[in-house]
Amino acid sequence: MSFGEMLRDLRLQAGLSQEALAELAQMSASGIGVLERGVRRAPQRQTLDLLAGALNLSRPDRERFQAAADRAGNARRPRAREAAAAVPNQNLPHAITKFVGSDGVIESLSKEASNRRLVTVTGTGGVGKTRIALEASYSLLNSFSDGVWIVELASIADPRLIAQRIGETLGVNASEPLQDGWIDALAEKHQLLILDGCEHLLTSCAEIAERLLARCPRLHILATSRERLHVIGEHVFPMKPLPEELAIELFLERASFADANQDVRAAVRRICTQLDGVPFAIELAAARVPSLSLKAIAENIGQRLTFLRHNATAPGKHQTMEALIDWSYELLPEHERRVLEQLSIFGSGCTLDSAFSIRTGNIDDRSELLECLASLVDKSLVEADFNGDDTRYSLLQTTRDYAREKLRERGEFDAVELFGSMAFSKNGIDGAYPTRIEHTPTGAIFFDSTNENPDYHSLELTLDQISLWQVPNP
Ligand SMILES: Nc1ncnc2c1ncn2[C@@H]1O[C@H](COP(=O)(O)OP(=O)(O)OP(=O)(O)O)[C@@H](O)[C@H]1O
Ligand SMILES: [Mg+2]
Repeated sequence: MSFGEMLRDLRLQAGLSQEALAELAQMSASGIGVLERGVRRAPQRQTLDLLAGALNLSRPDRERFQAAADRAGNARRPRAREAAAAVPNQNLPHAITKFVGSDGVIESLSKEASNRRLVTVTGTGGVGKTRIALEASYSLLNSFSDGVWIVELASIADPRLIAQRIGETLGVNASEPLQDGWIDALAEKHQLLILDGCEHLLTSCAEIAERLLARCPRLHILATSRERLHVIGEHVFPMKPLPEELAIELFLERASFADANQDVRAAVRRICTQLDGVPFAIELAAARVPSLSLKAIAENIGQRLTFLRHNATAPGKHQTMEALIDWSYELLPEHERRVLEQLSIFGSGCTLDSAFSIRTGNIDDRSELLECLASLVDKSLVEADFNGDDTRYSLLQTTRDYAREKLRERGEFDAVELFGSMAFSKNGIDGAYPTRIEHTPTGAIFFDSTNENPDYHSLELTLDQISLWQVPNP
């Protein structure tokens, strides 16, 4: 039995899909596929150990597994060029759900990816970066004579494994990551390489992309990342959430509502508005339809973080809405976490002045705060809207919920709440929580969530009172 056949048998015995094994062994699903099909005869020692561990092999099985790998290793290894030639021309997973998108969006990305050497699709978690990259890539299958290849990076924690994973996917013998030998093997190839999910390995991905592009003149790279790679020559393709009508269409499609009447559409519209048009959130909400009525979903959707959990079989960051944002939050340095959290008190965003006047993130220096906000915008956690000379910074609602939760965990949310409710109790609406804070030269105006008319529902506070913000943890 060949090594590939044995791997497949052991995987099936363990009840694992290629994707599940890939995640446990820190490999790509395509890497497992390549081994099972015998395109690569045996993995490196380190990968072999990871696979054996992931398969939870008994001692005798582990010995058989090792022996099969040794036999395969002794067989003539194809030279890099031959191995690359032996690989079929693409490894894109098949989409099993319908794509919903604005007219021409796929065509426009396909055009960029075929005209430019490096395109990065950016956007917040779950907005559809991977999906659009795949859709564009399907349409480019005939445009790259040496194929279209995706390398999934979310399951890699160690940047040293990126090059190895790319080599495995492209079918070159990548025993020594990024050695000249295997780059040379790709030098003349006309390929599209999709690096999917770069944000947690940004610097390494940028270095590898630069090096590959410099040495392989016919290679094109399409990256997806919550943050752009910051490489010279990179073309950024920003993905925005779905506009309302498409968000509704996606919900109806995923919930299998064939002929939605006006009432159903209205209920779905209410739900989608709460989800900011983020496809991942819409899919999670629609997945509740068999067990919950639209009315029940609409009633609960305000609790987005706790309500939108479902997909136990998806890889880590795509199991729940909370995990999706965790992924970005974990990558932030502490001072950016603080700023993100404190921005959550502004219900409908704020200007730099407003953020600065409450010492958001406890930052005293205006340019430092500006830098920090710019970085959060780059990481797709904060939206910047430019209106003339003014820039308004805001969070998507789920990100805001998440950031508030973090404030609460720090024991600071109460101070904010207290601050807000004091302001409102003076105005006779005790306990209301402000959803918008604006600043004037003399103080802060808090707006009630239900009525933004400053004549009635607002109150000016002197900036001194804002020191309440710094109430210590109880
Ligand atoms: N336009 C769309 N039409 C239909 N489904 C979509 C669309 N965009 C995204 N989806 C679906 O939404 C989910 C999340 O999309 P995707 O994984 O592409 O997000 P992402 O931006 O890559 O997220 P992450 O930052 O976590 O990598 C997937 O199930 C995807 O198929
Ligand atoms: Mg993705």
